[in-house]
Amino acid sequence: MFEEISPAPPDAILGLTDAFQADPNPEKINLGVGVFMDDAGKTPILNSVKKAENLLLEGEITKSYLPISGSPQYASGIQELLFSQEHPFLKAGRVKTAQTPGGTGGLRVGADFLKLFYPEATVWVSSPTWANHKAIFKAAGFPAKEYPYYDPETRGLDFDGMAAALAKIPSGDIVLLHVCCHNPTGVDPSEAQWQQIADLAETQGWVPFFDFAYQGFGASVEADRRPLHLFAERGLDFLVSSSCSKNFGLYNERTGAFTLVAQNADRANAAFSHVKTVIRSNYSNPPRHGGAIVEVILNDKILRKEWLGELDAMRKRIRFLRTELVRGLQQRGVDADFSYIEQQNGMFSFSGLNETQVKRLREEHSIYIVGGGRINVAGMTSDALNRLCDAVAKVL
Ligand code: LMR
Repeated sequence: MFEEISPAPPDAILGLTDAFQADPNPEKINLGVGVFMDDAGKTPILNSVKKAENLLLEGEITKSYLPISGSPQYASGIQELLFSQEHPFLKAGRVKTAQTPGGTGGLRVGADFLKLFYPEATVWVSSPTWANHKAIFKAAGFPAKEYPYYDPETRGLDFDGMAAALAKIPSGDIVLLHVCCHNPTGVDPSEAQWQQIADLAETQGWVPFFDFAYQGFGASVEADRRPLHLFAERGLDFLVSSSCSKNFGLYNERTGAFTLVAQNADRANAAFSHVKTVIRSNYSNPPRHGGAIVEVILNDKILRKEWLGELDAMRKRIRFLRTELVRGLQQRGVDADFSYIEQQNGMFSFSGLNETQVKRLREEHSIYIVGGGRINVAGMTSDALNRLCDAVAKVL
């Protein structure tokens, strides 16, 4: 039955973890997958999460199904994170949210929903983008094309190239945008540039679909969501996939959301009814635990404060590691200027290392980073940082 089937290529990010696990070198370092680690090399469970779990364990009285779109209280919590409690769109019923298995689940639910109403659309993703974006949209039946984003010369945003491409994308095509902490480059548009992107969405009529996986890892929970507010202020319809993997550290609880924003409550409700049919024929309804943790934290003043403090601490640690990485490379007399690493946002640093250098890091030093040169800065311990700087100095 399976004799004709040849193996699929390993996943660009999670496949690296498999290769890392198979590596016998005791000094090996995995800076591939985007997971936060403390200086002991552990991905800790946040204290706020542990406390919420204890409360849940005591108070839980049923394992009955959630609704198709998940817990309504979780949905409100996510909407409040995206928009703030007082946002007029929430009061007007223009925002609808479904709890999904991770941000990946949110993207796939959104893509399946769009396929119902825009079957001929193309999805446009940034060049480069997260390795899984094209695959998710392809699985939903959409061809993918790229718009310019990163300029390797300036190590910054190629905004002119991006804007020129977005100005040609026709009405009804889908444009995937990273709200903050662009994965893999860490390079984000400024507020003025977001205004121009919103102008283009308005004049062109393409469908803005935001991937928001790193809220709170850029500048703050509030500052990071600013692009969504700009689009809302224009009265634009848009879609958002968001994730609690990183900011709540709930990676393996697969806790995410799909949110749609429409012109009025009737349209939002009609569109959302189809989101539910898409979910029902996929995974029926979401698992509860991760969403329940988020719900408890957001609804408890003390836990919420503790969570925000823990999120701040993670963000500050990543900033510190960026500075240390740049300093470590300078100390080793590396000629190239790596100072741009300090300007990038989020977990990842787009190192500028080429494919040969990435391969040498892996084969000669057992240091695993994603093809294209993406380093998970958030996953470095002091030891790993030193070993990485030594190894980079050798492969350059
Ligand atoms: C990453 O980019 O490393 C994370 O979003 C994890 C993943 O699923 O790829």
